[in-house]
Amino acid sequence: MTKLAIAANGLRKSYGDQVVLDGVDLAVPEGTVFSLLGPNGAGKTTAVKILSTLVRADPGTGDIHIGGHNLATDPQAVRAAIGVTGQFSAVDGLITGEENMLLMADLHHLSRSEGRRTAAELLERFDLVEAAKKPASTYSGGMKRRLDIAMTLVGNPRIIFLDEPTTGLDPRSRHTMWQIIRELVSDGVTVFLTTQYLDEADELADRIAVLNDGRIAAHGSAAELKRLVPGGHVRLRFTDPAAYQGAARTLGDATRDDDSLALRVPNDGSQRELRSILDRLDLAGIEADELTVHTPDLDDVFFALTGSADIPSQSKEAVR
Ligand SMILES: Nc1ncnc2c1ncn2[C@@H]1O[C@H](COP(=O)(O)OP(=O)(O)O)[C@@H](O)[C@H]1O
Ligand SMILES: [Mg+2]
Repeated sequence: MTKLAIAANGLRKSYGDQVVLDGVDLAVPEGTVFSLLGPNGAGKTTAVKILSTLVRADPGTGDIHIGGHNLATDPQAVRAAIGVTGQFSAVDGLITGEENMLLMADLHHLSRSEGRRTAAELLERFDLVEAAKKPASTYSGGMKRRLDIAMTLVGNPRIIFLDEPTTGLDPRSRHTMWQIIRELVSDGVTVFLTTQYLDEADELADRIAVLNDGRIAAHGSAAELKRLVPGGHVRLRFTDPAAYQGAARTLGDATRDDDSLALRVPNDGSQRELRSILDRLDLAGIEADELTVHTPDLDDVFFALTGSADIPSQSKEAVR
């Protein structure tokens, strides 16, 4: 059995009469990236705060284990095992990046020389050597996030919570952050990542859970989630109107786009269904000029599950 870095059963939290988390189960195997996906206000930060001992879960919540430690009875051990990079930066803008790092080293009771060595290593690793002596308030958004993560790593945590680490970053800085997260994972670190961005979860996460109305609306790998929603189809485009008309007759279940001489045929993306379409066209002696297979993406899943249209789509195209 794989060991779980994070295990929570029936996580509950209300603020006043607002139920934020209404019985959320989480199980994150060691060394994997788990993404908690949800729109603004879904309860992602609340979940991170509970799991990282900063906020207490409501009575009725089941056992929570982090790094094998019981969160209720041994919060000290949990804190020693984890690192948290909050949604809002912990960087002190008035002091330099290096001073921020040394402050963290102090908090972790590293010796003076060890603190300096660790700070220097991490500043180097996160490409902050040049900026190290400048006040952090002068840093760009991407640099602040990198410093934030570098500070989180001072204690060498094996489990890291990253709460919306790329929100508000430009595409280039997002990619740098993704690279950083991949490197953490290749070092064997477990990453609990919250995000509003489907492409981010798709890119990084081994498993994804979609949080909606205080509950996990769906969970699984990106591929598994995509299979939950219909929307897959094959698009055939023609230049010859006669071929187009012939294909439309042959494939009875196609949706026509007469203007661009294109047909859209429902398809689950399987080899069998694709072959059946091609066989029918071959039999009729028709050849399409262009054939594309569209499989549903996480956007389709997200909309199907949450019915929410007001998530930031960020510069998704630009990012790719
Ligand atoms: N300390 C608090 N007091 C009252 N309400 C809160 C508090 N923290 C969060 N909330 C509410 O809980 C809901 C979930 O918030 P949050 O966990 O920050 O969502 P997310 O991080 O997914 O955007 C929001 O409606 C928010 O207003
Ligand atoms: Mg949040």
